[in-house]
Amino acid sequence: MSDPRSENSNLPDVSDVPGQDGLSDDSLQSVHAQMLREKPEPKDGFSPIPILLLLIFSGLIVFGGIYMARYSAGFNALAFNETVRPDDVGEGGEGEAPPAPDPLVVGKRLYTQNCVACHQATGQGLPGVFPPLVASEWVLGSEQSPIRVVLHGLGGEIEVLGVSYNSIMPAFGPSTLNWGDGDIAAVLSYIRQEWGNAADPVSPETVAAVRAETADRTTAWTAAELDAFK
Ligand code: HEC
Repeated sequence: MSDPRSENSNLPDVSDVPGQDGLSDDSLQSVHAQMLREKPEPKDGFSPIPILLLLIFSGLIVFGGIYMARYSAGFNALAFNETVRPDDVGEGGEGEAPPAPDPLVVGKRLYTQNCVACHQATGQGLPGVFPPLVASEWVLGSEQSPIRVVLHGLGGEIEVLGVSYNSIMPAFGPSTLNWGDGDIAAVLSYIRQEWGNAADPVSPETVAAVRAETADRTTAWTAAELDAFK
């Protein structure tokens, strides 16, 4: 290892002094003074923000202000409801209920989540196991029977489009999943109008009426019972 002092010839040679404590105060101070001079001048206070950064920040603030003035829509709560279309918001926009969601859209979602496993996305069911909903007389006939089927389930022998089935369909009503009138109306409206089916939609009021009428019911329906409503 080389002696660091040998690299700096400006420093006074103290190698001949035996031990550091042999250094006089004067020679120590002069060494420190030289070292201080060779370092960059220490600065006082703060360095100003570079002018470029300042320009960028003021630009951002101006942009933010213009953006907010342009797109805040007066901070109207309805303006941030993504289900509202501009023409649905009336004069003041305030206090008006947002439009009800399309029952067919809700119905399709409910069907995909709850019925597809058995009746299939095509509505054709599975031959011999799950009956079809497409063109089924039970779906397209009086809304009374499909409402009952979804509310309380269905069991026993049933004939759909000339083919016999004998299995069990689970209930979605009060005894199990407790679907609301709106949900049942939506899923039935969907299956009555999808895949080329063309029957009237089912209203939540009709479902509510059937629900009240069958309030005592706890078991699944049989086809024989539903025949009366066909
Ligand atoms: C676990 C399977 C299963 C699920 C889930 C299911 N069903 Fe069914 N569904 C059946 C079976 C099985 C039958 C026939 C019952 C029988 O044999 O008595 C049936 C019969 C029906 C019928 C009357 C017969 C026909 O084909 O027209 C309708 C209407 C119906 N289901 C609608 C629905 C709707 C709507 C849903 C969803 C909310 C649904 N089903 C969910 C199995 C299922």
